[in-house]
Amino acid sequence: MAVPRSAPAAEHTHPAGAAGTVRGPRLEWYPRSIIAIECVGDLDPCGDLVQNNTQTPRRTTRKGNVLLFARNFFRHPRMLGSIVPSSRFLIRQLLQPINWARARVIVEYGPGVGGITAEVLRHMRQDATLIAIEMNPDFVRYLRGSFADRRLRVVEGSAESVDEILHRFGYTRANYIISGIPFSTIPAALRERILRKTCDVLEPGGAFLVYQFSTRVLEDLRRIFGYVARRFEPLNVLPAHLFICQAVTA
Ligand SMILES: C[S@@+](CC[C@H](N)C(=O)[O-])C[C@H]1O[C@@H](n2cnc3c(N)ncnc32)[C@H](O)[C@@H]1O
Repeated sequence: MAVPRSAPAAEHTHPAGAAGTVRGPRLEWYPRSIIAIECVGDLDPCGDLVQNNTQTPRRTTRKGNVLLFARNFFRHPRMLGSIVPSSRFLIRQLLQPINWARARVIVEYGPGVGGITAEVLRHMRQDATLIAIEMNPDFVRYLRGSFADRRLRVVEGSAESVDEILHRFGYTRANYIISGIPFSTIPAALRERILRKTCDVLEPGGAFLVYQFSTRVLEDLRRIFGYVARRFEPLNVLPAHLFICQAVTA
């Protein structure tokens, strides 16, 4: 199980020596811990958001996930960017910076068939909220039918609308935003809007946790957030670059 880390109180100067400080504690990746992922379930169509009564994801097979994901990859290769869902190694490393005791509002961009979603739900507080924003209607339907957890809201939409979506649920900011969307295949203007809005809605001390199959977005992340730490996960199809981004204030 991932161990919550206690966040240092002090602000940190940007490591590259740029002007400004990270708002709140600077985050790093921590040593790996063991996390099991396996959940998913049967279809149960519902409205725009999921608000069920239990806190445990229903179980189905990983094979079902992989097939649904692969089918959608052949339909929308640029939107998915990968033929199979993220590995447990990637998920484990991606979520390591999260201070679970502190996180009240978490947003996930592009949850796909919910591998990361399941792991976030397994760790997050009982009074926290996870807002999963997914553009693909097949995945939205699947996620809504697969998780029975009152803390999860599945929204069909684009990460570009993160500010409006947060407002809709009564929030203005998120502690963490996790992203698996393929920024390198997204048009530059849209990418810029998504990254700027993401930076704007992050709580001080919060972080934007990103994985990508190339480093093409790194320059944009550095320009917009100011502080970016990097990691690499070879045990994934494809091997993935991980970026932890925090806003630097002047
Ligand atoms: C590489 S897949 C990641 C799936 C999942 N997070 C995983 O780790 O297996 C990228 C996902 O992002 C979604 N996506 C792409 N662009 C998006 C956008 N602008 N807003 C929300 N979701 C988007 C795709 O539909 C797809 O489900």
